[in-house]
Amino acid sequence: MVRQLFTTINRRSLSSLTMLCTTLTLLIDLANSSVSCGSGIKSVGGTVPTGDIILEYGSGVPLEITCILQSDTIIVQNLLRDRTDSCNKTKFPSHRIIFYKNAEIVPRQYVSIVNATAAQLRIPNPPAGQDTYYCTLLLDYERSKNESYEDEVTGSNTNGSHLLGSQVGVCLNRVYVGYKPAIVRNFTCISENWANLRCNWNISENPIKTTYSLLFRLPGRAGGRIFISCPTDSDIRENSCYWDFNTTPMYRQPYEFYDFRLNGQNVLGNSSTFFNFHHYANIIPASPINITVVNTTESSVMLRWSVGTMTNFPRELIYKIEYKSQWDSNPEPWHSVITSDVVCSMSNQTNSFLYTMNCQERNDDYYYFNVTDLKYPSANYDFRMYVRSSLARGEDKWSLPGYITLKTKPSIPRRPPRTDIGSFESLTSRIDKSKRNVFIYWQQIDDSEKCGDLFEYRAYYTSTTEQNKSIIHYSNEIYESYAKFQELSTSVGYNFTVYSSNKEGLSTEYSTIYVPSESQRIEKPLLLTKMVFDQQGVFELSWKNSGTTESSTADELNYYTLFWCENVNHLPYKCNGYMNWTHVPGSEFRCNVTILNYNVKNHYQFAISANSRRLISNGTNSHNQSNCKSSGMVWESCTIQNNITARKVDNVWVSVISSTFLGLRWNIDCTDRIGLVGEYQIFYCAVVSAKNHICNGTMLSKIMSREAAKKDGGFTLLTNLEPNTTYIVSIAISTNYDSKGIHSDALLITTLGLGGGWYLKQEYPTYMQQIMKHNFYP
Ligand SMILES: *[C@@H]1O[C@H](CO)[C@@H](O)[C@H](O)[C@H]1NC(C)=O
Ligand SMILES: *[C@@H]1O[C@H](CO)[C@@H](O)[C@H](O)[C@H]1NC(C)=O
Ligand SMILES: *[C@@H]1O[C@H](CO)[C@@H](O)[C@H](O)[C@H]1NC(C)=O
Ligand SMILES: *[C@@H]1O[C@H](CO)[C@@H](O)[C@H](O)[C@H]1NC(C)=O
Ligand SMILES: *[C@@H]1O[C@H](CO)[C@@H](O)[C@H](O)[C@H]1NC(C)=O
Ligand SMILES: *[C@@H]1O[C@H](CO)[C@@H](O)[C@H](O)[C@H]1NC(C)=O
Ligand SMILES: *[C@@H]1O[C@H](CO)[C@@H](O)[C@H](O)[C@H]1NC(C)=O
Ligand SMILES: *[C@@H]1O[C@H](CO)[C@@H](O)[C@H](O)[C@H]1NC(C)=O
Ligand SMILES: *[C@@H]1O[C@H](CO)[C@@H](O)[C@H](O)[C@H]1NC(C)=O
Ligand SMILES: *[C@@H]1O[C@H](CO)[C@@H](O)[C@H](O)[C@H]1NC(C)=O
Ligand SMILES: *[C@@H]1O[C@H](CO)[C@@H](O)[C@H](O)[C@H]1NC(C)=O
Ligand SMILES: *[C@@H]1O[C@H](CO)[C@@H](O)[C@H](O)[C@H]1NC(C)=O
Repeated sequence: MVRQLFTTINRRSLSSLTMLCTTLTLLIDLANSSVSCGSGIKSVGGTVPTGDIILEYGSGVPLEITCILQSDTIIVQNLLRDRTDSCNKTKFPSHRIIFYKNAEIVPRQYVSIVNATAAQLRIPNPPAGQDTYYCTLLLDYERSKNESYEDEVTGSNTNGSHLLGSQVGVCLNRVYVGYKPAIVRNFTCISENWANLRCNWNISENPIKTTYSLLFRLPGRAGGRIFISCPTDSDIRENSCYWDFNTTPMYRQPYEFYDFRLNGQNVLGNSSTFFNFHHYANIIPASPINITVVNTTESSVMLRWSVGTMTNFPRELIYKIEYKSQWDSNPEPWHSVITSDVVCSMSNQTNSFLYTMNCQERNDDYYYFNVTDLKYPSANYDFRMYVRSSLARGEDKWSLPGYITLKTKPSIPRRPPRTDIGSFESLTSRIDKSKRNVFIYWQQIDDSEKCGDLFEYRAYYTSTTEQNKSIIHYSNEIYESYAKFQELSTSVGYNFTVYSSNKEGLSTEYSTIYVPSESQRIEKPLLLTKMVFDQQGVFELSWKNSGTTESSTADELNYYTLFWCENVNHLPYKCNGYMNWTHVPGSEFRCNVTILNYNVKNHYQFAISANSRRLISNGTNSHNQSNCKSSGMVWESCTIQNNITARKVDNVWVSVISSTFLGLRWNIDCTDRIGLVGEYQIFYCAVVSAKNHICNGTMLSKIMSREAAKKDGGFTLLTNLEPNTTYIVSIAISTNYDSKGIHSDALLITTLGLGGGWYLKQEYPTYMQQIMKHNFYP
């Protein structure tokens, strides 16, 4: 009994083709029939040929599949009986055969009717690829005649949204259109540290299953004619092959060359690719190990290392040593030295002049190399060392690096600090006019030039005793940027010497500064004023010459030095940070300075010196100190914001105090320099208490014209005050632009008790509490 098993399919059901396929393969063949779709598959027919079809692409062989219906099945017999349609055309069952390529109906032009029960698919030049071709039988003819090849069926007429009648699957074929095994071009082998070997290759795409197997033969007699296969089937599975000392066959370390044969195989044919592989040029060694520092100097380091397994490598090794010091900034490339043991073995030969590369020595299992020309003494260096076979080509066969960090030996400092003709300050004692304190300034050297521990600067001058013995006088105090010498004579000029020094000794060279006697000293420039712009790091400096300073003449060059000092702390009048300077012609009285690497957080102070150098009549500029004189430095005395509203009186202090009046003094130099001052307004009132700074009563004010203030040198007396009362005082400038200037920081002053007399305060200390104006003035 034959069970009629078929499934009607509908194209609208989601996975009809999958179902068709499943149906075809799962049906059990219960009857012997003349045409079948392979053993074990029960269907209404079959294809010729059956099963997989393999074709070579471009060979000219067409793809031909004949789909034959089994005429003894009920379905086919019914169809044979009822052979006409509404148009009275004769219909064979074979007209109802439809071919699919994967999910698409094959266009009609490729299909021909053979006889009543057979139709043939013929594609002359099938494209390369793997495809499944199905043939089905259309049952519901009337409803879907459009789908049959009888009418214009083009498979591609719509995208599957149309209704297809019920079909029964007949048979299917897998079709492979591909190539013969290709020659492999991308074949590479790499040995890790001369202890194993791994080969890889890429195979080109081929729809036809193709396998490659790798064989090798050792060259020469050792190899003979026998090709040895890969230890595992990884060549077939993964296109790679691996050998080491534990594989069978084993990795053959001592052979410089291998002959490889790569056999490709598929149903269309075989191919063999031969490679003569240069084993020793394709070794990537492990990184150098046991790197140690044998000895260092301030500019060189002797390194020792070993290379493990590679020690016995019969060919030369090349080393790349890279290093970088703590002073090399980060984007800078590493310094690099290439060294090789080729060179040493060669250098003993007569033609050693040919080899100027660095020589490296070898002792048993250790290699030695002296890296020279390191720039920085007492600096930390990072070293990286790479090794590769001298036979390797290209830069990709270097080992991973071995690392070592070391410090070079210290040396004496590289240089003394820089000084300028005017980088000193001479302050005559108020008490003893024959004595002065001298400050010597210099430009700090870079940290990378200090070259050792216990770095410091040393400054001294020498004097000669009556016995012609010279005595060294060191500075009384010394700092990062200056040294102080106390109680020097005002009537003698001094030659100061400045050295850099560390644990290893003094710098070879030294700097000098000549400080003339007070009578020889050039007059100082006056009123150095700093104008601050919104643009950061730009300052305009202006000054006045002392009046007696003459402009340059034929035999005398007069010029200024402008100094600026970068202080981390706000330390007035002493520079202890990095100092720099520039020279300005004697005819100038204004100059813009732009500070490199300006840092808002730092405090920049400025100074100026007037200098003169006598020119020797024959035209050479002599630096002989007796020909050079300077005023020494004068620090800036005032800062002006180039911004009218931000301007205020800076320096206000109390110079006289009694129970009923007080004398107020302020610095008119700076404010007056703007040339815009209209008048000064002094505001004052008694406050509620020393702790509560609210006005207790009316605000009093006093106005002083610019001329009056200038005549008195910035002084006014506030009278009719209450004894034992705390007053708050502030000065404002009204300018020609703006009658309401900014108030100075307010001073709090308590008058003396009755009968307290009065006190002159030469330089009223700033201990007086100052409060911000905003707390006080409405
Ligand atoms: C089909 O053929 C039959 C018998 O020859 C005839 O009776 C019938 O009219 C035809 N039908 C058409 C639509 O031509
Ligand atoms: C139809 O053609 C196929 C293929 O050529 C053949 O196997 C089959 O016997 C033919 N059927 C008839 C009825 O001639
Ligand atoms: C050869 O191999 C390299 C790296 O694996 C790859 O980039 C390249 O495309 C390959 N060439 C061919 C022809 O397969
Ligand atoms: C060299 O280094 C290896 C591992 O890095 C270590 O096992 C060995 O003891 C070292 N040899 C010497 C002599 O330092
Ligand atoms: C290092 O080198 C110096 C000078 O070349 C030598 O005096 C010293 O003995 C060496 N030290 C070692 C440990 O080799
Ligand atoms: C060069 O080699 C010879 C022997 O090969 C040896 O006697 C000689 O000392 C070597 N010269 C130098 C400079 O190493
Ligand atoms: C390394 O080279 C430097 C400079 O040529 C030399 O001063 C130093 O002594 C050498 N070091 C050793 C250990 O030979
Ligand atoms: C300073 O040194 C210069 C030259 O070095 C010399 O001509 C001059 O006399 C010295 N002056 C003093 C005061 O030692
Ligand atoms: C110091 O000043 C000179 C002259 O103005 C300038 O060229 C130089 O770049 C400055 N150096 C530093 C570190 O600011
Ligand atoms: C200094 O720079 C400021 C701002 O760039 C500019 O207005 C001024 O004219 C300059 N002064 C001099 C003397 O160049
Ligand atoms: C210029 O004069 C100085 C000393 O007066 C002398 O040492 C130098 O040689 C002279 N130079 C020339 C070019 O005459
Ligand atoms: C002037 O300076 C003050 C305070 O620094 C600032 O608030 C104001 O915007 C500045 N005015 C101009 C015109 O730059």
